[in-house]
Amino acid sequence: MPKIQNSISPELQARFATDMMAWQTRHGRHHLPWQNTRDPYRVWLSEIMLQQTQVSTVLDYFPRFLQKFPDVSALAAASQDEVLGLWSGLGYYSRARNLHRCAMEVVDRFGGAFPQDPLDLQSLPGIGRSTAAAIAAFCFGQRAAILDGNVKRVLTRVLGYGADLSVSAHERVLWDLADQLLPTRSLSTAMPRYTQALMDLGATVCLPRKTDCAQCPVQSLCVARQQGDPLRYPVKTRKLKRTSEALWLLKVHNQQGDVWLEKRPGQGVWASLYCLPVFDSAEALIGSLPAGQELRHDPAFVHVLTHKDLHLHPVQAHQARVKSKPLRSGVEGAWMPRSQWQTLGLPAPIRKLLEA
Ligand code: ADE
Repeated sequence: MPKIQNSISPELQARFATDMMAWQTRHGRHHLPWQNTRDPYRVWLSEIMLQQTQVSTVLDYFPRFLQKFPDVSALAAASQDEVLGLWSGLGYYSRARNLHRCAMEVVDRFGGAFPQDPLDLQSLPGIGRSTAAAIAAFCFGQRAAILDGNVKRVLTRVLGYGADLSVSAHERVLWDLADQLLPTRSLSTAMPRYTQALMDLGATVCLPRKTDCAQCPVQSLCVARQQGDPLRYPVKTRKLKRTSEALWLLKVHNQQGDVWLEKRPGQGVWASLYCLPVFDSAEALIGSLPAGQELRHDPAFVHVLTHKDLHLHPVQAHQARVKSKPLRSGVEGAWMPRSQWQTLGLPAPIRKLLEA
């Protein structure tokens, strides 16, 4: 078995960060709304939003979120439903639930000021090692390495690091290499610039299926380029194990045309979001309704989540209920007019069904 590289040569250490920072100054991004600030609230909020969402979408949500919740205390004081409502459309709602919990913990545990130590940051909900490092580097000039998917790609290519990253020991070594590549001087200005350089190179030059090596500031240092096949990095063999689940969704309107929606449990698919009533079989759905209820089965469709394919079976029932009478008891639910459900955090396929 080939030996896995675990140290950086002094020559590479001397040049990598310097060349990256010089490139960032001339060719990197400088005017995104979460740049040119050391406010950890803004940096944290942008990093969480950017985790699974494109910059162009975040540009839309970020200012709206700040307007409603200008600081961490305002966010901590909000209700979970308000936060989920403002997050509506960004998807991956566990981010929004953790965001809210994190704000409350910053207030309760740290007196409303984000901690500066990456390990303290990492102890907060929704903040992993890379996000903690990004906040610590951007806001406090801390010497901490980021290593999100884009940066893994850049570093494995530059280093020619071909170990399988689905093996956690191999990923740990890459973290260690990333640490060794960090700037060593003038950290207060160097760390933000270097961190942004890695992000910018990964987002604009060193792309997953295409590289623009002629534009790359570290082309002469890059092992993958010397080998002639940069796209073979990163190596990740173990594929995500996907599962599938079938769900039956009940759409019922009352006399006023309001639709019955229920809040999902705090765990599992669509946790804490409002949703049509969900059943795991057609029989269970039918059994929840009065006998003889007329139903219409709409075409089933597949909704793809990160780990799971959801096979969704929408069923419509018409029911003449008065507003004061719940469709079901023992759940947190309500009859809602369009104006009310439009502002809620709803799963994307449920919103589509309601708008149909
Ligand atoms: N993706 C993650 N963090 C980012 C940042 N600070 N700027 C641009 N894209 C990013």
